[in-house]
Amino acid sequence: MDAHKPVLLDEVLDGLAVKSDGHYCDATFGRGGHSAAILERLGPSGRLCAIDRDPEAIAAGRGRFAAEGRLTLVRGSFGRLEERVRAAGLEGGLQGVLLDLGVSSPQLDEARRGFSFMQDGPLDMRMDNESGISAAQWLARAGEREIADVLFKLGEEKFSRRIARAIVAARGVAPLTTTRQLAELVASAVPTREPGKHPATRSFQAIRIHVNRELEEVEAALPQAVSLLAPGGRLCVISFHSLEDRLVKRFMRREAQGDPLYAELPNVPPHARPRLRLVGGAVMAGDAEVAANPRSRSAVLRVAEKVAA
Ligand SMILES: C[S@@+](CC[C@H](N)C(=O)[O-])C[C@H]1O[C@@H](n2cnc3c(N)ncnc32)[C@H](O)[C@@H]1O
Repeated sequence: MDAHKPVLLDEVLDGLAVKSDGHYCDATFGRGGHSAAILERLGPSGRLCAIDRDPEAIAAGRGRFAAEGRLTLVRGSFGRLEERVRAAGLEGGLQGVLLDLGVSSPQLDEARRGFSFMQDGPLDMRMDNESGISAAQWLARAGEREIADVLFKLGEEKFSRRIARAIVAARGVAPLTTTRQLAELVASAVPTREPGKHPATRSFQAIRIHVNRELEEVEAALPQAVSLLAPGGRLCVISFHSLEDRLVKRFMRREAQGDPLYAELPNVPPHARPRLRLVGGAVMAGDAEVAANPRSRSAVLRVAEKVAA
């Protein structure tokens, strides 16, 4: 139940180009698949700070890595990356930062976490299930228009308005408290089916991204990650859907170009110079990995290197 296969593991290790005495941050610890591989490549003076907002991920990590003195686990969101890294006793000058976005297999597989439309559980969907508001609480309060907008923007759900209307009508009769209730309600509200896809896939994705403020978190973390890197340090980001990947791609491109206002000028002030150099293009899982781990099907890795100011 606790298994999470790290995706694009070799590609991440190549991207990070781990130096044995380097300081690294794995901002999405999960079950520590990537962290374990980074630790294997670190020597005695190397350090790893690993962050997760999910208390269960941190508890599992404390058990698995109890004897590992080079690792510091920090519970919290990576939206405040610099603060979390400092809390781990590391300052800037990192050789690498990894963000493996989205949810972990244990989060999806445990019905009680409420992420899955395949199993019945409480309608929760919070990665940090000890704070914030659950999907059920949000759906109980949000206006019909707000729900439709979230489903449309974050799930690219073309029947967003119908689904929002159905949710508001249903909650007027009885509160929506379980994943099965929501999955069935969405299925009954959409008039057509996408082949091979459960009709609630897009709605569950959208509500999860909204409840966890996933895009805002990534937007906040990326510039902090660059600030934390030493020149030559690597930023590796794995996205699982196009909204996330677009954000990462645009950020990296922008940082690799520098401020276009100064593009033609002879003296570019430090704040307007490129901070990153792109390392290769988008990396996707090969057939063998997709066959062994279907989660890797939609993974896209992007790598960039911090350049000297
Ligand atoms: C795809 S999993 C990472 C799996 C990990 N690389 C491994 O090999 O086990 C993503 C993890 O990031 C965490 N996470 C997602 N968004 C976060 C955020 N904003 N702050 C901190 N952790 C976050 C989730 O709780 C989840 O455990």
